[in-house]
Amino acid sequence: MKYYALAIDGPAGAGKSTVAKMLAARLHYTYIDTGAMYRATTYKALKLKVDITNPDSFQFLEDTEMTFVDGVLFMDGLDVTQKIRTNQVSNNVSIVASHIPVRNKLVEIQQSISHTTNVVMDGRDIGTVVLPHADLKIYMTATVEERARRRHEENLSIGIESNYESLMKEIQRRDKIDSSRAYNPLKQAQDAIYLDTSSLDIEEVADKIYLLFQLIIDRKDETHGTI
Ligand code: DC
Repeated sequence: MKYYALAIDGPAGAGKSTVAKMLAARLHYTYIDTGAMYRATTYKALKLKVDITNPDSFQFLEDTEMTFVDGVLFMDGLDVTQKIRTNQVSNNVSIVASHIPVRNKLVEIQQSISHTTNVVMDGRDIGTVVLPHADLKIYMTATVEERARRRHEENLSIGIESNYESLMKEIQRRDKIDSSRAYNPLKQAQDAIYLDTSSLDIEEVADKIYLLFQLIIDRKDETHGTI
């Protein structure tokens, strides 16, 4: 059975997760927030007090269960939504996400989910590494000011303490680490559609991607039906 995949990549706060959630709901696909998986790994590493600068400290991932239920990540059976959005996790996630064993393990989980269900997946390396054969790839970005503003509102809406100025600094720092790391950095896939959402209404963006994706899927379904 062939499952469909929509890949959305881009820097922090570009609107990926909002758009991805909307699209997954409309398409009845599973939404996979891969950033949440790197955050959950960071949270668990901090809790276990392992040395997060050492790539070999993440053996615990072998016995860690990560599952998505309605777009919400459960780690070892617990909803970790709030725990993975703290400043402590945000400030340490880029270093954790730069380690090869961490990336390989999480990519393996992400790919295995895509073999069992239709997915809308967002992250940094989805179009380039995780789902190189995705049916549609979007690379979404926006100015750093707009991205910080969106993250700030998102944090407030889920009841997390937030400061615009420090968010802006954190985003700039993470952008730098995420796009300059040696292994699987944040970058646009060659066949991805580039979208600057700075001055766009997020709902409009979701509508456009939805229509485009439907066109692609309908054409594929027709082709498969006539062969
Ligand atoms: O999307 P986010 O801000 O929740 O992601 C948290 C961090 O995880 C981000 O700084 C980079 C990393 N990440 C990654 O390296 N690869 C992904 N596919 C998703 C996130």
